[in-house]
Amino acid sequence: MSRVRLLPVVILIAFACRQERRPAAPAAAPPPQTPSATPAADVSHGEAAIGSADTAAVDPQAPPRTGATLRRIRIEIRHAKVTIANGVSYDAWTFDGHVPGPVLRATVGDTIDFTLVNRAPMPHSMDFHAAEIAPSRAYVNVMPGDSLHYRYVARVAGAFLYHCGTAPVAMHIANGMYGALIVDPKRGRPAAREFVLVQSEFYTQKAGGPDSTALALDWQKLLGQAPDYVTFNGRSAQYATAPIVVAPQAPLRLYVVNAGPNRVSAFHVVGAIFSHVYLDSSVTPSLSGVQTVDVPVGGGAIFEVRLAEPGAYPFVSHAFADATKGAVGVLRAKE
Ligand code: CU
Ligand code: CU
Repeated sequence: MSRVRLLPVVILIAFACRQERRPAAPAAAPPPQTPSATPAADVSHGEAAIGSADTAAVDPQAPPRTGATLRRIRIEIRHAKVTIANGVSYDAWTFDGHVPGPVLRATVGDTIDFTLVNRAPMPHSMDFHAAEIAPSRAYVNVMPGDSLHYRYVARVAGAFLYHCGTAPVAMHIANGMYGALIVDPKRGRPAAREFVLVQSEFYTQKAGGPDSTALALDWQKLLGQAPDYVTFNGRSAQYATAPIVVAPQAPLRLYVVNAGPNRVSAFHVVGAIFSHVYLDSSVTPSLSGVQTVDVPVGGGAIFEVRLAEPGAYPFVSHAFADATKGAVGVLRAKE
């Protein structure tokens, strides 16, 4: 690749790198910074890992399909500290202690037998976008120490969001209560390396006492739709630091789910064109040969792509303020 062609990639990675090392944003808005266009010295044209993360990246690989037609799923709600960027922790509300919650997978026709246990000190709930069910029966608040059980049949294939539906929903989502549920068509999809990317935002302010290092939700920033971090799988630019390694020309399938709560994802892979995109729950390709596709807040899409040759291919939300805030990663094609 020529240096000219690499320049946007280098700048992109440099921005992601800057964001990772930025200290926690204070509650009062700092003066706007003009990022330098000069790539950091440790950036190797986007083809080498940048620096080192203080925690391992969240595994982006999709869980395998299972043959079970009765899928028993039990999730515990806990309030927990999570890492949202290198060296930055956040007082989150979680499904099973992680943000996003576990990636779930089922096949069309499966019965989801779901139990939700609330170990948190406040009411929470669970809304599965893959379900067709009366919210007034299933998506009700579960009190602290209590649990809820319901069943539904996953009738529609796709990449679905699940999230806490307790009011104010924006607060519960912004604090980390979401995840992805993949529903496969009965016959499955063609063989491919499969990855799951859940995009979401964090709106932060310093929390707790003077010794507290964790951040917590800034409600005014949320209402103003001005996130400090936009992430794939809950951490700013984690796959720029730890690229996802794939083979050149191998078929890849990316399940992209957008939890928001506010920002549309303009999903794009630099240096590639999606061969097929399945919008939301379609089982036949909605689009072929496309460069960028919006994944709405509360929606999902399935992207199929092959990387032409060895090298580093950033994936981004092409809404570049969001990429600068962390909605960036790298697919590294390596023989
Ligand atoms: Cu909640
Ligand atoms: Cu919803």
